[in-house]
Amino acid sequence: MFPVGLVTRLGVSSPIVSDGKLIGFYDGWIAGRKFPVDMAGFAVNVQFYIQREAPMMPYSVGFEEDGFLKALRIKPEEIEPLADNCTKILVWHTRTVKSVPALQMPDTDKVSKTNLNYLKPQMVFQSPFGLS
Ligand SMILES: *[C@@H]1O[C@H](CO)[C@@H](O)[C@H](O)[C@H]1NC(C)=O
Repeated sequence: MFPVGLVTRLGVSSPIVSDGKLIGFYDGWIAGRKFPVDMAGFAVNVQFYIQREAPMMPYSVGFEEDGFLKALRIKPEEIEPLADNCTKILVWHTRTVKSVPALQMPDTDKVSKTNLNYLKPQMVFQSPFGLS
């Protein structure tokens, strides 16, 4: 898995990585998903895919990625944080409308002590309310 730029009002969708390990997900639409990731945010090894009986991606709007990854029976500890431990945005979820600046990342340890701290300076955030 790897970060995807320009997804939802958060401006990025990414696994949260600490010490090289996945500890959570930063995504603007969690929606009860086990794997709240964008379609562009992962790649699957073909040999692994075949070993897991090559599941189809379910047609379930918004839940395709989650359904597919669950059908692969992938365990969170088997997920490899690529793009230098998810510190780089190498893919974007582009759209045909202008993107608005992202909402600020929260000021918490889950941001300051993880890969999110490296993604933060690569993003454009909305000005805090009351400032211009
Ligand atoms: C990812 O983080 C782990 C743990 O800090 C480190 O051993 C590894 O070298 C890092 N990998 C990359 C590509 O930065």
